[in-house]
Amino acid sequence: VSRRPDYGLDAPHVARNTLLIGLAGAALTAICRSVRAPRPLTVAAGAVALWGLTVAPFHVYSSRVLKPREARRLIDALRWRGDERVLDVGCGRGMLLVTAARRLANGGRAVGVDTWVARHHASTHGSATLDNAAAEGVGELVALCDGEARRLPFRDGSFDVVVSSLCVHNISWRPRERRHALEEMVRVLRPGGQLALMDIVYSAQYARTLRALGMQDVRHHWRLPLWGIAFGTVTAVKSPSPAWGGGACYTSDTR
Ligand SMILES: C[S@@+](CC[C@H](N)C(=O)[O-])C[C@H]1O[C@@H](n2cnc3c(N)ncnc32)[C@H](O)[C@@H]1O
Repeated sequence: VSRRPDYGLDAPHVARNTLLIGLAGAALTAICRSVRAPRPLTVAAGAVALWGLTVAPFHVYSSRVLKPREARRLIDALRWRGDERVLDVGCGRGMLLVTAARRLANGGRAVGVDTWVARHHASTHGSATLDNAAAEGVGELVALCDGEARRLPFRDGSFDVVVSSLCVHNISWRPRERRHALEEMVRVLRPGGQLALMDIVYSAQYARTLRALGMQDVRHHWRLPLWGIAFGTVTAVKSPSPAWGGGACYTSDTR
C-alpha cells in the first residue's frame, strides 16, 4: 500500500503549548474588551494572543516545509557519485537519511543510527523511518541501527558521507559531550569523506570543533531561524591523509 512519507513534527509539545497560550490570550482579550478592562491589561492579553497564534503555525511550518527544504539544500551542497556509504546520526524518522538515499543511484547505501528517544521527536521509532524510506522509493537502500552518537557502532573510516540533523544539540548541555559526537562522526568517516550537519543553537561551535579536529574546507552558514531559534548548517571534508587531529578515538575493540 503506497502512503505519503511522514517526517513528524519537531517538539510537538512546544507547538501545542504555544497554540494553547495563544488561544488563552485571545479568549482573555475578548473578555477584557467585553468587561471594559483597563487598557494595559487588554493590550497585554492581545500581545500574548498574537505571539502564540503566530509562533505555533511557524513552528509547524518550520518542521513541515522549511526543514525539508534545508535538508535538500544541505545534501545538494555535497558532491555525489551515487555509490557512497552514508551514515545519518540521530536519523529519527529519516528525513535527511531519505534525502541522501535519493542520491544513491549507483549502488550506494544509507544507514541511520538512533537511540530512538521518543521525547525528541514525534513518534520517533525505526518502523516509521523504514516506512518513510519505502514511501520515497528508497527502502532497499536504507538500513537502521540502534546506537549512541558518542559511541557509534562502526569501524573507523566506514562511511563516505556522514550527515546529521538536529541530533547533536539533544545530546547534552555539556560541550564536551557534543564534541564526543563530532569526534565519532569524524572517526567513522573515511579519509576524504564528507560531513554535513544542520542544527539549532550550536552550529557555529560545531564548525570550530571540526576545524580543531583537523577537518578541512569547514563551511558554516547561519540560515533562517527555524522554530524561531538560531539555526545553521556545517559542511566539512576529512583530510585525505588518514592521520587526523582528533581527540577520543575508539576502535572496534574498545566499543
Ligand atoms: C529532533 S530529532 C531529529 C530527527 C531527524 N534527524 C530529523 O531531522 O528529522 C533528534 C533525533 O536524535 C536522536 N538522538 C538524540 N540523542 C541521541 C544520541 N545521543 N545518539 C543517537 N541519537 C540521538 C533522537 O532519538 C531523535 O531521533
